[in-house]
Amino acid sequence: MKMLSSLKFILTILSIIRGVEYHISFKRSQNSSSFPKRASFPSDFLFGVGSSSLQIEGDSLEGGGGKGVWEDIVERHKERFVDADKVSTMIEHYKRYKEDVKHLKYLGVNSYRMSISWSRILPDGTLKGGINKEGIKFYNNLINELLANGIEPFVTIVHFDYPVAIQQKIGGFLNHTIVKYYKDYCKLLFKTYGDRVKHWTTTNEPQVVAIYKYMHGYDNDAAEPCQDTKICSQAYTVLHNFLICHATATHLYRQQFQETQRGDIGIVISYQGFVPYSSKPEDVAAAQRLMDFWLGWILEPLFYGDYPQIMRKLVGNRLPKFTKKEKHMIKGSADFIGINYYTSQFARYEPNRTNINGLDNFDALATTSEEFNIEGKPLGHKDQYSGRYVYPKGLYDVLIFIKEKYQNPNIYITENGTPSSNNPNPLIDDHRIAYITEHINATKAAIDNGVKVRGYFVWTAFDTFEFEAGYSGHWGLYHVDFNNSLKRIPKASAKWYRNFLKSNGGH
Ligand code: FCB
Repeated sequence: MKMLSSLKFILTILSIIRGVEYHISFKRSQNSSSFPKRASFPSDFLFGVGSSSLQIEGDSLEGGGGKGVWEDIVERHKERFVDADKVSTMIEHYKRYKEDVKHLKYLGVNSYRMSISWSRILPDGTLKGGINKEGIKFYNNLINELLANGIEPFVTIVHFDYPVAIQQKIGGFLNHTIVKYYKDYCKLLFKTYGDRVKHWTTTNEPQVVAIYKYMHGYDNDAAEPCQDTKICSQAYTVLHNFLICHATATHLYRQQFQETQRGDIGIVISYQGFVPYSSKPEDVAAAQRLMDFWLGWILEPLFYGDYPQIMRKLVGNRLPKFTKKEKHMIKGSADFIGINYYTSQFARYEPNRTNINGLDNFDALATTSEEFNIEGKPLGHKDQYSGRYVYPKGLYDVLIFIKEKYQNPNIYITENGTPSSNNPNPLIDDHRIAYITEHINATKAAIDNGVKVRGYFVWTAFDTFEFEAGYSGHWGLYHVDFNNSLKRIPKASAKWYRNFLKSNGGH
């Protein structure tokens, strides 16, 4: 008990110091005449927008491609998804990539985060099943088009989606055999595109895949949201296999390609900020535990070779173990970390969870279901157009946290943005401009305090299929008009981003 209250005291002091640091840097950057100008960031800082193949391309079977698991899931569970009828065409980026690159060029971004569809390249997921030449050509064309327009591709190898065939054959990432297929796929990508792609990420948000698919049950027909820790255990196996895939790909890249191609490789993780619901020691400890269960789940193996001690203790035998060789391979296996940040949540001690809520984990003995803290205060402010809490300090805090706990790595903010679900006029999205400005400010404040942030990507370029919510969130800087041949129309935020990127001479 005594230890807990000293811990609480130290944490309170630390958070006060951090709050003051943040406030000073934030104010400094807001008041500074050079902010928010593009030129107050290094010239090689990447300012971009993001996307994923699954959410925009459509036409997965065109030119000989194969189906990905997500298209299949939506088709089989149409009732769960808004706009399920639009899944096969999405916003036709596959057909209209040239036009879309023009829109990116208009924004003035120097980088574009995209992903490659595994099933478009290898329709049945394996080399043996054959390479789809049309798929290879599509990404060659897209990459060349980007580069011809001065935009660097920042490429995700697996963004949620992978071939249905792999799912059917081996059960996807639940099966360790995936490592072999994934490695073949990566090798093909490095060989084919590595002369032009200088930033690779092995996977997007493996925690979300693990929790969402295996705890919420969006997997296959047998899927039911898990109701107890035992069933939820699959999530740990899935993430374990993702980590081994990640480390295998990094090793391959470093051994065979990096020296000549001179690129870097990292992983993209999701971060939900966790702030204690009250100053009670058990809530403070719950927030810390969630940090370990969410960020530490990936970063501890990546930087220190094994899962956080608290996870090993609470999950016990249900948490897979790394072999000695695997530990060695995983430790140090990222040149940078990609962070996707949207908002933060209150964390409260909850030893008897029985329901799924959000993306938190049963085993962490915590819940994130509170909208207000014990004093009745929300985190940041609730934005009426997105219906979400806007809390840029959560981004600042996690950047400082990673710097301090994980050896000050290079970081890209690979996703940050806001929906516009309740906005009566999707073209006037001032709330998005405010959101992006505040988060760029928080990024700048973190850089000023020594965090090595190398880039920032708005999610997302075009209105994008957002799973259950379909297109209803209008997430893009470009509106896509479904009543007018999918016309892309720049919103106020697109114009604002363009001006911001041009400010002080642009990049
Ligand atoms: C992230 C995903 C991205 C998008 C945004 C809104 O979790 O990586 O594909 O859906 O959320």
